[in-house]
Amino acid sequence: MSTYNENARPRITVTRLQDMKRKGEKIACLTAYDYTMAQIVDAAGVDFILVGDSAANVMMGYDTTLPITLDDMITYAKGVTRGAQHALVVVDMPFGYYQGCPDIALASAVRIMKETGASAVKMEGGSEIRESIEKILSAGIPVCGHLGLTPQSVNKFGGYGVRAKEDAEAECLLSDARMLEQLGCFAIVLEKIPAALAAKVAQAVSIPVIGIGAGADVDGQILVVQDMLGMNRGFSPKFMRRYADMADLMETALGRYVSDVKAVDFPNESERY
Ligand code: KIV
Repeated sequence: MSTYNENARPRITVTRLQDMKRKGEKIACLTAYDYTMAQIVDAAGVDFILVGDSAANVMMGYDTTLPITLDDMITYAKGVTRGAQHALVVVDMPFGYYQGCPDIALASAVRIMKETGASAVKMEGGSEIRESIEKILSAGIPVCGHLGLTPQSVNKFGGYGVRAKEDAEAECLLSDARMLEQLGCFAIVLEKIPAALAAKVAQAVSIPVIGIGAGADVDGQILVVQDMLGMNRGFSPKFMRRYADMADLMETALGRYVSDVKAVDFPNESERY
């Protein structure tokens, strides 16, 4: 018997995202790093799930995204692709696996595609990684660019402040965005840049521009799921809207469990065999 369900929501593809831009439909994106969260994020109707290298921070507790490895990213991504039935799953290329050497970049991207079942990769940077992007695209692997605050370059920037406030950096960012479009990237993430500049980039390119801390006049938004659910108490930048206080909710529930165990109130008669 066929398992095909014609009422199922179709899988989002990179071309569908481009149609959404053309039609002016906003694109909702979130990160996820595991099967359970990916199922919930997908069921909520998110179009694009990023297995971000922010996993280094929110899943592994590192201060920066630099230490996460390709193997780590592949492990997280495998769970996400199993959980996401509808959303496009995009995996971040981690620091050290694509900069400087197109052959290494291609080998890293091929591992991600073969081992995880994801549909695309994301890479931080513009003209400095042009050859690596070209090499990956030439293998038929869709690439999402990432400009503005690129956390893998935190040591060059000296922190996580707003980027491209000055004209020279803004011009450079606009020209990198045009270059990414010309190379054939399917979308660009713009992180923590002035809203007016982000709007200008979204107007200037025909591919979707997804913002995080880049204002409303772009084609879609992305947030780190733990941050927007309020699971990460220490992090509340201006651009982030908290949709729940999950840390409080979870701590209360967990505390009730601890009390019940200590009071021998769990398990009760109906919870036993
Ligand atoms: O790693 C990540 O989560 C990201 C988003 C912040 C865009 O790159």
